[in-house]
Amino acid sequence: MQLVLDYLKRNQARFVAELCDYLRLPSVSAQLQHKKDLRACAEWLATHCRQIGLEARVCPTQGHPIVVAKTPRRKLNPRRPHFMVYGHYDVQPPEPLDLWQTPPFEPRIAGRSIFARGTTDNKGQHFAHLKAVEAYLKTGTPLPCDLTFVIEGEEEVGSANLAKFLKSHRNELKCDAVVVSDTGMPDADHPALTCALRGIIAFEITVHGPARDLHSGIFGGAVDNPAMALSQLLARLRDSNGRVAIPGFYDDVAPLSTYERKQIRRLPTSDRELQKLLGVKKLFGERGFTAMEQRSARPTFEINGLTSGYQGPGSKTIVPAWARAKITCRLVPNQRPARIRKVVCDYLRKICPPTVRLEIEAGHGAEAYLVSPTSPQAQAALRALREAFHREPVLLREGGSIPIVNDFKKVLGADTLLLGLGLPEDNAHSPNEKFDLGCFENGQRMSALLWPELSVPAAGDA
Ligand code: BES
Ligand code: ZN
Repeated sequence: MQLVLDYLKRNQARFVAELCDYLRLPSVSAQLQHKKDLRACAEWLATHCRQIGLEARVCPTQGHPIVVAKTPRRKLNPRRPHFMVYGHYDVQPPEPLDLWQTPPFEPRIAGRSIFARGTTDNKGQHFAHLKAVEAYLKTGTPLPCDLTFVIEGEEEVGSANLAKFLKSHRNELKCDAVVVSDTGMPDADHPALTCALRGIIAFEITVHGPARDLHSGIFGGAVDNPAMALSQLLARLRDSNGRVAIPGFYDDVAPLSTYERKQIRRLPTSDRELQKLLGVKKLFGERGFTAMEQRSARPTFEINGLTSGYQGPGSKTIVPAWARAKITCRLVPNQRPARIRKVVCDYLRKICPPTVRLEIEAGHGAEAYLVSPTSPQAQAALRALREAFHREPVLLREGGSIPIVNDFKKVLGADTLLLGLGLPEDNAHSPNEKFDLGCFENGQRMSALLWPELSVPAAGDA
């Protein structure tokens, strides 16, 4: 193991340069004009995997390709443990561009951070695992298990094609556990094992008014204004206590136990720090819950985008023909995506005024995820975190979603270990996204230490 750890230490500068090459590829999955860039990014990654000694292929899908890379297999021991490392090479749209200090796809190193779109979410995080396996392969250190990397290009748009791929490659991908670094840690001194993620449903609602934009002086007053109608609809969906005001929305929500609430209160994040970090005047949220509970263990209804009428400079006096909102709800354990979608749609249709036409387009959806922190695998992961970071790890519930982890359980029967390397100040999905080079290096060590820990059969296993 010392050989592996020394290799990692010696090669940090090269690893950072390689990560910069990876970050230069603008793999924005949501934007059609980047389709070729996603393909190029997948090819770059597969080539890189081959250079470090993995067997890699690019698997086309109906959407963006999936990269599958494996450690060279020895046929000797059919009972050898097999783990999957999952990550995503696609990134969120970089807009608004004018808020970036340097362009999003021209990586910049400043202090101990590397700035670029996709650096923490998720290229830097899964690259740490690739560098750990490189260290094993290049030093000739035998791995105690087989590894398969599955790095997809559609995580940020719901992973629909990977879900199909899992089903059609069930035998090849069958494994003892999946390891994912695509979550966070409370701060650089607290490595974390995440044991819950929120689920999600996405949809777009469009309110249609007149057949075309109209002169607001000539016709305004006699026709409903779609932007106003949409605003009024949306305003009815949350009450002044921060609760979602949709009948049935909370029906199945699993309540937090006293024990869980106590654990959440022990985390090293204060409301004051959070308020400062986020740049808000005052925190807001569902009454009766702390900010940490609100952002990890309570469901939400969020407007992610809101568009209508003229957006250019100066004024244009129109009644717009339509108004649109992009919406996601975060879900918690026991809430079923299909049911929540139904209660939201039913209520919107019920309260929509007769003067406009409502159109609802469904998007992706996924349940929340919960995994036991006391399983032998989780305990193995906690040991690797402790040793790599030289700090005591914490258990986290997190608010983000990784839809495919539910399919890992359903299709492959495998639990997912969520070992995030992101920091709250990393600006994931925001301008000036960054990744901490200390987290990158600790993450590589954690990965290297994890495989021997995980490969020891648990007491009671044959
Ligand atoms: N890395 C995030 C998920 C995440 C972030 C989980 C922080 C926990 C803590 C992932 O890339 C992501 O952004 N997922 C999307 C999924 C959606 C588009 C289906 C999300 O959560 O919005
Ligand atoms: Zn993301």
